[in-house]
Amino acid sequence: MTQSTASNPPPTKLNGDWKTQPFEILRKKWGEVPGGLLTRRKTSELLHLTDSELLQTWRRSLDETRQGPDGFATRGWYHALYKDVLRGKKVVDVGSGLGFDGITFAQAGAQMTFVDIVESNLELLQRLCKLMGVTNARFHYMQDTASLPALPDDYDVIWCQGSLINAPFELVRQEIQELLKHLKIGGRWIELAYPKERWEREGSLPFEKWGEKTDGPGTPYMEWYDLEKLQAALAPAEFEVVLYFNFFNNDFNWFDLIRRS
Ligand SMILES: C[S@@+](CC[C@H](N)C(=O)[O-])C[C@H]1O[C@@H](n2cnc3c(N)ncnc32)[C@H](O)[C@@H]1O
Repeated sequence: MTQSTASNPPPTKLNGDWKTQPFEILRKKWGEVPGGLLTRRKTSELLHLTDSELLQTWRRSLDETRQGPDGFATRGWYHALYKDVLRGKKVVDVGSGLGFDGITFAQAGAQMTFVDIVESNLELLQRLCKLMGVTNARFHYMQDTASLPALPDDYDVIWCQGSLINAPFELVRQEIQELLKHLKIGGRWIELAYPKERWEREGSLPFEKWGEKTDGPGTPYMEWYDLEKLQAALAPAEFEVVLYFNFFNNDFNWFDLIRRS
């Protein structure tokens, strides 16, 4: 079992394919990304839509995921909160999926870099940005952690929504350490994860099995995070807490941290 508690820190050893080809494991699943509130979409399929079908589908999904009582309580509240905070800031959206966050913030004036491990996800985002006239965006394909040094080193914000929780802790820690080389002192680490309360409610499954519950068939891994575990992955860099709380019936938790060292 790969679970951990505060008194029992996450294991640091990677085994099997997680050691030799971790991003191949992840790529098998993550061409399918969150669509609307409860739906998932394969980006390779969306690429077959006409421009107008694609725009309509994307806008309808974005509305569903941030409007109405459930939409506002999941994505809408933080779009409202961070649109102004991120204006003019240089932001890297790690694991950008369908770009519901990144495109929204680019449209509100953030300088976005979209990073993803699946080429069709980025290809779709590039097409969407072109269709919507979003020019303040760049796209960076992540083959593995060795792709990260090519990023600029002066980001104001690292934004990761549900993308740094779906692999064993040690792999995520290594990726976080690479990403931190690109975040200024005084910059923000803003992350959405799944809390331990949800993992317990859903049966305290081994992380290799829990992903099927949280993100559907084929999800190879999912791990809960709390502040202590995230700080362990960020260390030795130190962060102060701006916001940290669970939301939406403990389905999600939110970390907004400011870098101090
Ligand atoms: C659950 S989806 C979230 C997508 C998007 N952030 C959102 O809020 O809808 C996870 C995304 O992270 C990407 N991803 C998965 N593992 C990753 C990793 N280790 N590093 C960077 N991106 C990753 C996937 O390809 C996918 O786009």
